[in-house]
Amino acid sequence: MASSLAPWVLRASARAARPAFRSQRRQLHASTPQRSEAIFVHRDSAENNLKIPFKFNATNEKLIEEVLSRYPSQYKKAAVMPLLDLGQRQHGFTSISVMNEVARLLEMPPMRVYEVATFYTMYNRDPVGKFHVQCCTTTPCQLNGSDGIMKAIEEHLGIHHGETTPDKMFTFTEVECLGACVNAPMVQINDDFYEDLTPETTKSLLTALRQAAEKTGASGMAAGMGGASASGEGKSGAHIEEQGRGYEAGGVKVPAPGPFSGRKTCEPLAGLTALTSEPWANDKLRTDGALD
Ligand code: FES
Repeated sequence: MASSLAPWVLRASARAARPAFRSQRRQLHASTPQRSEAIFVHRDSAENNLKIPFKFNATNEKLIEEVLSRYPSQYKKAAVMPLLDLGQRQHGFTSISVMNEVARLLEMPPMRVYEVATFYTMYNRDPVGKFHVQCCTTTPCQLNGSDGIMKAIEEHLGIHHGETTPDKMFTFTEVECLGACVNAPMVQINDDFYEDLTPETTKSLLTALRQAAEKTGASGMAAGMGGASASGEGKSGAHIEEQGRGYEAGGVKVPAPGPFSGRKTCEPLAGLTALTSEPWANDKLRTDGALD
């Protein structure tokens, strides 16, 4: 009897030795995760509270009409993201009043709008400077020197991630991949990407943007500088020569958005590495030169 019970006793004691509770949670991070500093709840502040009214201007009302015409009337809440974007562009950031106005227009519960605005990091729920500098530090950018770009921005502007310069000219944010990895390291400033950066080109870019904004009062981006031309003519600003293009704003030479390495977009830096030989067999190129 004792010998026939032995296997059962052994199995039972082994089971008892296991921890009573095994977590099903898998550890995804090798290092301590960094939590966002932006809080999801609204806190009234001098520049963001319910007493500050917000209404879309006439231009944006027209745009809203156009956006809403794309959706069946019973699904107009589908327009929440473009409307929040318009509100942010008009007001400078996505304030509580902007969110409430969007909710009113789309006949949505305000909470549904808050949920969208707090989920997407593109909606700035606090005021940002004239230039919102977002530096990517995800792996491809990090391997290509984004640490140096971060340091250059901090040194040049005298602020850290999440801060705004006292003159409200620059806000600096560290962000995850912005989808321009092949041109790493890069920063996004307002709507534009500046790529293949070095600490030096980053500093000269920030200097040029500041000077241009001080001269023109505008936010200094290529499209917003009164039609400044994107050409290489008359370029004298530092690094515009090596970038090969730029534009002038208020007499200041400003590098154009895009790669600072001389490449046009995201072609290989070292030239073609594939499909370099003459096609063979039937894959003949036209011989009349039309495709040269
Ligand atoms: S990793 Fe920086 S843009 Fe993708």
